[in-house]
Amino acid sequence: MPTLITKHLKLVPLTHADADTVVEMFADPAMSTYMSIDFSVEANGRAMVERRLAHSDDKLGHWTVTEKGETVGLVHLRPSFELPASLIEIGWYTATSRAGRGLAQEAAAALLRYGQGLGLPAIWAVVDPRNAASLAVAHKLGFLHVGEGHHYGALHDVMVLLNERR
Ligand SMILES: CC(C)(COP(=O)(O)OP(=O)(O)OC[C@H]1O[C@@H](n2cnc3c(N)ncnc32)[C@H](O)[C@@H]1OP(=O)(O)O)[C@@H](O)C(=O)NCCC(=O)NCCS
Repeated sequence: MPTLITKHLKLVPLTHADADTVVEMFADPAMSTYMSIDFSVEANGRAMVERRLAHSDDKLGHWTVTEKGETVGLVHLRPSFELPASLIEIGWYTATSRAGRGLAQEAAAALLRYGQGLGLPAIWAVVDPRNAASLAVAHKLGFLHVGEGHHYGALHDVMVLLNERR
């Protein structure tokens, strides 16, 4: 997996060395407001990082988002755990203290460009409909709402971005 560089951010492939930093970022309960698992419980946070590390290959997986060398978020682009046929799913997380500055959008936009460059026909996102900030990110990125489903333990909006570069 490559490191991706944006105007303000660096997306660096997640490694075991990032585990403590990611667990610390998710120690804020606000990060789990729309999650069915409370990742502020350390054991849950550690299990989440391990699960992410188990699902990376040479092209797709999980990246930390860093700003001036500091970890400010996490993103992923990998086969979905939830949608059928291993459709490729993107996800975004920004540390609460850094939210509202456009970081999720900037990081996700870079990951989408990367995924489209790989020739992926479509990239999917599943978002809790109560998660207004995440829905705003998806809409700003051009995702289309195509339905709802029970995912990650609750009703989620299912959204897709088609690859117009193909
Ligand atoms: C959702 C999340 C990733 C957003 O990260 P972020 O870096 O703040 O996102 P951005 O700054 O790029 O964009 C947030 C947008 O949501 C908007 N927003 C924030 N709170 C909002 C609210 N309550 N209602 C409506 N819009 C809201 C912001 O105004 C911004 O839109 P704008 O740029 O048009 O002003 C971050 O809050 C987070 O990690 N939350 C916890 C984990 C999570 O829920 N991840 C998503 C799983 S699908």
